[in-house]
Amino acid sequence: MHQPIASIEAVQQMLAAQSYVCGRPLATVLFLALRLGRPLFLEGEAGTGKTEIAKAIAAALGRRLIRLQCYEGLDAASAVYEWNFAAQMVAIRAAEAAQDAQHLRTGLFGPEFLIERPLLQAMRPQDGGAPVLLIDEIDRTDEPFEAFLLEALSDFQVTIPELGTIKAPEAPIVILTSNRTREVHDALKRRCLYHWVDYPGFEREIEILHARAPDASEALSREVVAFVQRLRSEDLFKKPGVAETIDWAKCLLALDVLTLSPEVIADTLGAILKYQDDIARLQGTEAKRLLDEARRSLVPAGT
Ligand SMILES: Nc1ncnc2c1ncn2[C@@H]1O[C@H](COP(=O)(O)OP(=O)(O)O)[C@@H](O)[C@H]1O
Ligand SMILES: [Mg+2]
Repeated sequence: MHQPIASIEAVQQMLAAQSYVCGRPLATVLFLALRLGRPLFLEGEAGTGKTEIAKAIAAALGRRLIRLQCYEGLDAASAVYEWNFAAQMVAIRAAEAAQDAQHLRTGLFGPEFLIERPLLQAMRPQDGGAPVLLIDEIDRTDEPFEAFLLEALSDFQVTIPELGTIKAPEAPIVILTSNRTREVHDALKRRCLYHWVDYPGFEREIEILHARAPDASEALSREVVAFVQRLRSEDLFKKPGVAETIDWAKCLLALDVLTLSPEVIADTLGAILKYQDDIARLQGTEAKRLLDEARRSLVPAGT
């Protein structure tokens, strides 16, 4: 039905067209997930491009993106479907007024009163092919919900007692992400192909910055990336992700900064560090020391 993706290189190219820079290991596991129809489990630090890749794939393939954002206390009702209680009440009132109770009894649990949540939406046929289902930040939910997801991912069908069983005509492309605030259960991982998304190396992060903040000069981009990479090797409560690198470069651009200095870093630190303890660590001469070290790591361009 759909043209299968030919190669790992083709995966990299289609993501590059969405300004997503994808290294070969990630492209390989993604290629396999698409080819074998297996869910892809992406784990890694915050801000390393896990959520973004699902968006990029959906856009590249022209599929609808359906996102289930996980949170503590998320239950099946909010993930699959709910009955629209308010609309049912209105219908009851209307039927009472019209003295039409008979009609009501059969009609209150019909499709018009059903609120479809992400997992059910993902099982519906879509123009353009099966959707991309992003189950984001699964580490925020609890184990019972994981067990429930395991079920849902194994057969892609939902039974609604009042309506019957709804089955996906074609399995969605499933991407699960975790920021690893806790371990996700083995059983769920075993269903998926797994990839650890690490912070990018220097050259790759430069490439990402070119793709996402193209107005930043080469010289500034290199300084920014070198500094952020240097910062990541410090013992911080929360290390800056790629998202922070991009944000920071954009902040510096907005301030017409051409080159980093300890003063500029002090003024804009809120773009890369989000915890007061981490910010406090960089007070005084510390920012200058890190900047000097970052500069030293930069091989002069052209040599
Ligand atoms: N490989 C990449 N290519 C392009 N942009 C990236 C990449 N990795 C991260 N980003 C940028 O970083 C931002 C944050 O990434 P995100 O997917 O939200 O991180 P995560 O879900 O891992 O916490 C994205 O919006 C994107 O702009
Ligand atoms: Mg995310």
